[in-house]
Amino acid sequence: MITRDTITRIMDAVRIEEVVGDFITLKRRGANMLGNCPFHNEKTPSFTVSPAKGIYKCFGCGVAGDSVKFIIEHEHKTYPEALRYLAEKYSIEIEESEAPSDKQIEEKNERDSLYIVSSFAQRFYSEQLLETEEGQNIGLTYFKERGFSKETIERFQLGYSPEKGDALVKASEAQGYLVEYLQKAGLASDKYDRPYDFFRGRVMFTIHNFMGKVVGFGGRTLLSDKKVPKYVNTPETDIYNKSRILYGLFQAKNAVRKEDECILVEGYTDVISLSQAGVENVVASSGTSLTVEQIRLIKRLTPNITVTYDGDAAGIKAAIRGIDLILEEDMNVRVVLLPPDDDPDSFVKREGADGFIKYRNSHIQDFILFKTSFLQEESKRDPVKRAEAIKDIVDSIALIPDAIKRSVYVKECSHLLDMQEQILVSEVNKIRHQKNSKKAGAPVEDSPRYVNEEVPEPKEPILPASIGALARQERDVVRLLLEYAHLDYSDEWKVAHAILMELDEDETPMVDPISEKIVNVYRTSIQEESLIPETHHLVSHEDPEISNFAIEILQKPYELSENWIKMHDIAITDTQFVYRKDIHSSLCRLKLERLKILIDETRNNMQKAQDEGDELALVEQMQLFQQYIGMKQQIATALGSVILPS
Ligand code: UTP
Ligand code: MN
Repeated sequence: MITRDTITRIMDAVRIEEVVGDFITLKRRGANMLGNCPFHNEKTPSFTVSPAKGIYKCFGCGVAGDSVKFIIEHEHKTYPEALRYLAEKYSIEIEESEAPSDKQIEEKNERDSLYIVSSFAQRFYSEQLLETEEGQNIGLTYFKERGFSKETIERFQLGYSPEKGDALVKASEAQGYLVEYLQKAGLASDKYDRPYDFFRGRVMFTIHNFMGKVVGFGGRTLLSDKKVPKYVNTPETDIYNKSRILYGLFQAKNAVRKEDECILVEGYTDVISLSQAGVENVVASSGTSLTVEQIRLIKRLTPNITVTYDGDAAGIKAAIRGIDLILEEDMNVRVVLLPPDDDPDSFVKREGADGFIKYRNSHIQDFILFKTSFLQEESKRDPVKRAEAIKDIVDSIALIPDAIKRSVYVKECSHLLDMQEQILVSEVNKIRHQKNSKKAGAPVEDSPRYVNEEVPEPKEPILPASIGALARQERDVVRLLLEYAHLDYSDEWKVAHAILMELDEDETPMVDPISEKIVNVYRTSIQEESLIPETHHLVSHEDPEISNFAIEILQKPYELSENWIKMHDIAITDTQFVYRKDIHSSLCRLKLERLKILIDETRNNMQKAQDEGDELALVEQMQLFQQYIGMKQQIATALGSVILPS
């Protein structure tokens, strides 16, 4: 690993105009330099280099970055390769650290090896499917019969594993891969006296992780023999942890974000058929019940999950079972039950995407209401069953972290069950109380959530007026984080530590997705390596949203926060540390914005409790209200006098 010290020396030495100047001709234009963009065809130059800021930006095609990113993109190099290139150009000697222990390196190398052989296996299975007689006759014919197009086969990297017992083992040996890694990746079996392919004579579904790396496979038999398992899946390996992977999520990511909804189905083929028909925001839990980790993967992209299962009894039961977990994560869950005997694959094939969407829109139901009417229907004539059903429903409602949502459900369900609302309220409260007292020290109040804030488009300016005040304030904090992360905040802490500690204290995710991403880059690096990432890591980050945001912040002198000037009327004696005041007040204002939302929520709750004559709830909400108002006043006072950390 190249040491941080070396990286700093490289970054100090590089001159962006010289780095770029090796590849294109630049002419001076005021403070900047201008040339023809090497990343797209143009006749009038719009590729701008700023020597002062060390960055480039093309106003034609939008590419932007620093010296490292330029070499990565232009020369198709990896990050360390680009650093080496620059080090050589500026005659800087590279120091390699041995910081990670041998064991760590070994583990990292081993995981990398597993990724490499898995990706090789994927290419092997694809080639078998498309280019061998056996693959074409058996596998390709099957996929064609199922109506999968060539593009779909490519997009989902479908393949075929030949009957012959050691085809993959032989092929990878020929490439020089160690069989040991095939076994560790779950691709070869070590049960026999010699290594044997794990998948044989099956059509192959490639499983990717969130980042798109191949981590495993599902293989479907083409035999109808009931004794042969229909699907065989990669066993748990160091890179394939079933409970952390959702089939199709890599392909669905963008659509899920765009539609602000994730459709959850059961099977590989359901994902593929829906996606091919144009309903792309779809993932599968692959036959197992959903785990918290899987839900959190979805939650990064959207709070809305639509469970789409078969309409038979088994499908309904499966739907009811997995979902309490999702409620607990404060996601909005809805259910679409398909007609009996249909799965999403068969349905969309018959009715097309339009038919599917039409059906979805007319059959989509809120999960708890669905569960309530279903159980109500099932237990109508049996008092014991009915009591169980009510208990079951109350349990689900009690899982919802958000008090407003809970009270809405209580109301609706009391109608459906034809029960007094107050009884349900007190049952729900009882369960929540038990749960809270079990979690030692956990606060009894709900953690605040702000799922309804407006979310900005990535291309907007850093602090656009159009996004919600809270998101705007978050970006302001992130801007300060990017700008001052490495400076001292107190004797003990750097700015990055101080900001993260403050943010983590609230246990509240950011409402602004870009801010959340950037904070996570810092959080991960500090937690896992005890290192504060350098600004250029973010500038040349592989996620374009992160790098664009970082670049934009570096480019423009930031807009001062509204109260900044007023606040700094107070004579600034310690000019050297002026950024501390700015950070402190920005964090205060973030807390204020969060509190404002809480106060509004509580006010609504009070109104509601009053309307419903629910005195207990009213008292509870009034106490909360007082507490928030008190906190707000404290922060406002702190903001007025801008207390510095000593
Ligand atoms: P299904 O039996 O519904 O399969 O199982 P499917 O996806 O609709 O496949 P086709 O349409 O019959 O070809 C749903 C999911 O459960 C898992 C697989 O992930 C499958 O996609 N499963 C099923 C297994 O892992 N093993 C099995 O033996 C069966
Ligand atoms: Mn099916």
